[in-house]
Amino acid sequence: MKHDVVEKNIGLMIVLIVVAISFGALVELVPLFFQKQMTEPVEGVRPLNGLELTGRDIYIREGCNTCHSQMIRALRSETERYGHYSVAGEYVYDYPFLWGSKRTGPDLARVGGRYSDGWHRAHLFNPRDVVPESIMPGYAWLFDNDIDAQGVQKKMRALRKVGVPYTDDDIAAAPASVDGKKEIDAMVAYLQQLGTSIKYKR
Ligand code: HEC
Repeated sequence: MKHDVVEKNIGLMIVLIVVAISFGALVELVPLFFQKQMTEPVEGVRPLNGLELTGRDIYIREGCNTCHSQMIRALRSETERYGHYSVAGEYVYDYPFLWGSKRTGPDLARVGGRYSDGWHRAHLFNPRDVVPESIMPGYAWLFDNDIDAQGVQKKMRALRKVGVPYTDDDIAAAPASVDGKKEIDAMVAYLQQLGTSIKYKR
């Protein structure tokens, strides 16, 4: 049996495994880099404004993504609960992406517009005030923390370098959009736009 030769020679086996995996990657992944559907924004997707972007960073800082995914799979059980499945072009401006795989809480990819701002504020202050059986922690300090208005522009400039199409006007307008706001305002603004760029029926 020729296969014995491979199984008894670990060096040869490693080389052949690498060849097999590389071939698989070539066939599966490389075509995606050239597909418009994967690399271009879907209609309606826009970069986050200064306030929303600040909220996104607070979301990452607080580790919300350790309990919440932001990716709806194309399965009936998911689309009936969360809405239209996620498409690649919705994420083109996400650096880093927050898809996640662990769902201690529900997926948030389309939570935008599902609740009022007031609901989110109450929920983030103490989840049990609105969902008695909730195990989500409260984030009361978001109501006290101010936003660093200058930092927002630096973040936008950095994102522009990696391809997010911010204009000079967008960047110039950012500090005013966060001025006098608390972190909770940024968080709610971020949550309220999630998944709202594509039109779908609930
Ligand atoms: C320890 C895990 C955990 C963490 C961390 C966590 N959550 Fe949750 N979250 C949950 C659970 C469980 C629920 C479902 C019960 C509820 O609504 O409170 C939930 C519900 C939600 C909902 C309502 C979703 C819906 O469709 O009803 C939102 C919005 C939300 N979380 C936002 C956040 C944000 C923002 C953060 C970070 C500041 C965060 N969560 C951190 C566990 C978590």
